Amino acid sequence: MMAAPGQGPWRGFFVLGVGMQSKIHIEDVHHSYTTPDGPLPVLAGLTLDVQEGGFVAVVGPSGCGKSTLTRLISGLMVPDQGLVAIDGQRVKGPRSTVGMAFQNPVLLEWRTIMDNILLPLEIVPNKLGKSERIERARYLLSLVGLSGFEDKRPSELSGGMRQRASLCRALVHSPDILILDEPFGALDAFTREDLWQTMHEVKDQEPFTGVLITHDLRESIFLADQVVVLSGRPAKTQFTLDVPNTGPRDLEHLYTPEASEMLAVLRHQIEIAQHRAPAEEETA
Ligand SMILES: Nc1ncnc2c1ncn2[C@@H]1O[C@H](COP(=O)(O)OP(=O)(O)OP(=O)(O)O)[C@@H](O)[C@H]1O
Ligand SMILES: [Mg+2]
Repeated sequence: MMAAPGQGPWRGFFVLGVGMQSKIHIEDVHHSYTTPDGPLPVLAGLTLDVQEGGFVAVVGPSGCGKSTLTRLISGLMVPDQGLVAIDGQRVKGPRSTVGMAFQNPVLLEWRTIMDNILLPLEIVPNKLGKSERIERARYLLSLVGLSGFEDKRPSELSGGMRQRASLCRALVHSPDILILDEPFGALDAFTREDLWQTMHEVKDQEPFTGVLITHDLRESIFLADQVVVLSGRPAKTQFTLDVPNTGPRDLEHLYTPEASEMLAVLRHQIEIAQHRAPAEEETA
């Protein structure tokens, strides 16, 4: 017989079968917000697994609950119902080993770029001494092409450079999970594509499991090894696309027939998510 959650030799762990092997396991999650007009159901039966070292892109209609999902993974919220587990353990509160970057980099203007990047190391417990912290920050800055900008203030940097700095800040404490909530959404097309390539270089060097929220389908197949389409609100997992290892990793590969086919499939799924209520879909 299986041990009950939190009991026996599995104390603190959940016997989840397949989900046990996942880095991030989200199972049948339901969540509503309390609003003056009553509860607003946002997630209704969302299921998602991300393997260790995997990079999953989550796409779906505006307002369907994608940022809510990131809050659940980072432990800033717990769901009303269902399971959010990391390394087989239920997430019950904020985790310090998560790194996050958002559409608006929110760098502190009164701090230099170096001091902005070092901020998480001042908050998250770690064993790094001062010179090791600076070395780590310098290494990340060089990885994203920002060497030499350590002493600048955020306002002296372009939008793309600020986003690169925010990526360094998200990674400085070596998080095991990196959550990116539309980090490139506000950038112009050229800067965005530049950052996609930087992301690949970063991913090759830093061993994290990634969740990327995006509205850009090209970005999703360029960066992720799996793309999950959420239905309209209240969201559940509508469709999952595995991007083969041979998927686009150079910008020119986005124009191959294989990439075009993946994009057409995803576009079709987004149309379904935008125009059909989830209940209709089930009976279709
Ligand atoms: N704290 C909150 N209280 C009440 N309602 C909320 C709260 N946070 C989000 N919502 C509502 O929940 C729904 C889902 O919000 P969420 O931010 O998760 O969507 P999203 O998919 O990230 O949207 P977008 O694509 O615009 O970023 C929206 O209708 C939003 O207005
Ligand atoms: Mg959002």
